Amino acid sequence: DMGGHDTYMHKEVFEQAEAVDRVLRGRIDDRFATVHLGGLNLDAREARSVRRIKILGCGTSYHAGQIGAGLIEELARIPADAEPASEFRYRNPVVDPDTLYVAVSQSGETYDVLAAVQELKRKGARVLGVVNVVGSAIAREADGGTYVHAGPEVCVVSTKCFTNTVVAFALLALHLGRVRDLSVTDGKRIIEGLRKLPAQIEEILKTEPEIKQLAKAYADARSMLFIGRVRGYPVAREASLKLKEVSYIHAEAYPASELKHGPLALIDPSMPTVAIVPDDDLLEKNRAALEEIKARSGRILAVAHQEQEKADHTIVVPKNEDELDPILMGIPLQLFAYHTALALGRDIDKPRNLAKSVTVE
Ligand code: F6R
Repeated sequence: DMGGHDTYMHKEVFEQAEAVDRVLRGRIDDRFATVHLGGLNLDAREARSVRRIKILGCGTSYHAGQIGAGLIEELARIPADAEPASEFRYRNPVVDPDTLYVAVSQSGETYDVLAAVQELKRKGARVLGVVNVVGSAIAREADGGTYVHAGPEVCVVSTKCFTNTVVAFALLALHLGRVRDLSVTDGKRIIEGLRKLPAQIEEILKTEPEIKQLAKAYADARSMLFIGRVRGYPVAREASLKLKEVSYIHAEAYPASELKHGPLALIDPSMPTVAIVPDDDLLEKNRAALEEIKARSGRILAVAHQEQEKADHTIVVPKNEDELDPILMGIPLQLFAYHTALALGRDIDKPRNLAKSVTVE
């Protein structure tokens, strides 16, 4: 049942405010400015002894993990990074007893992720799951973890589960931060930001008519560049993946800082750039990148907290706390990918050559 929507993708994009509300519900502890994640199976002493965090997933879940790693470093000051589960399992990884491993998966059945979890457990590592489907294989194999409560996701292309997974990582990061060195003040600031998310998501979704027009304006591109910096880079990567899977337009994500080391050579009027430009301490750096692109006659679509002078178009999104902005900045680009695919007549819920759950190697 699509509840009045033409595709599951559209329905699921529009379910995001409600889904985020669900992942937050019952978990916030205002008294201690922290959150409780019931199934983590990691007591405070253990949480304090974690030296590194390694996040493993595939596709969109890997990108959610990349934002998650950033949140963990910022809020808990634990070194963290994300890696595609398939790469990890084939490179005979060094498994370290002080590292906490986190497996991320919507379906909980992705074979490369499951095999990585099994290999880690065989070597005695502690593995948490950040999973959507309750009781799935990865959820069962993990030592503990948290469900992301996105609800069923039918469209092959992941949208609401991505957003909820990132929010689940924000909760994990806040929890780890508050048993370590994150102050009460910062804990409260993040909690306030989390509470604002559902209403801000609704606000973004209201701009659909404008995004639809933009999508039509860019649908003739053969290829697009997506750029972002630090917090914005994984947002750019995920937005680029969304566009290519659903519209079949080639898209490539790059850190904005790497432009001058190669990709600037691609810029001309036929190669548009989508730029993630949050209003944070890197704003001026990001603006400089827009200038470099404009100087080479590149078209620019910015996602930002205020109109960008150098951009041809800006999608303005509401501002949250700096750390939580990545959660919101990808949402208009889900709609951008959707409307581009619609304009090109693509099979949105079932893009060619893809399956919802990849249970083979
Ligand atoms: C992207 C997409 C895929 C999945 C990937 C992992 O929209 O759907 O990239 O994210 O196959 O799937 P899960 O999260 O089920 O492990």
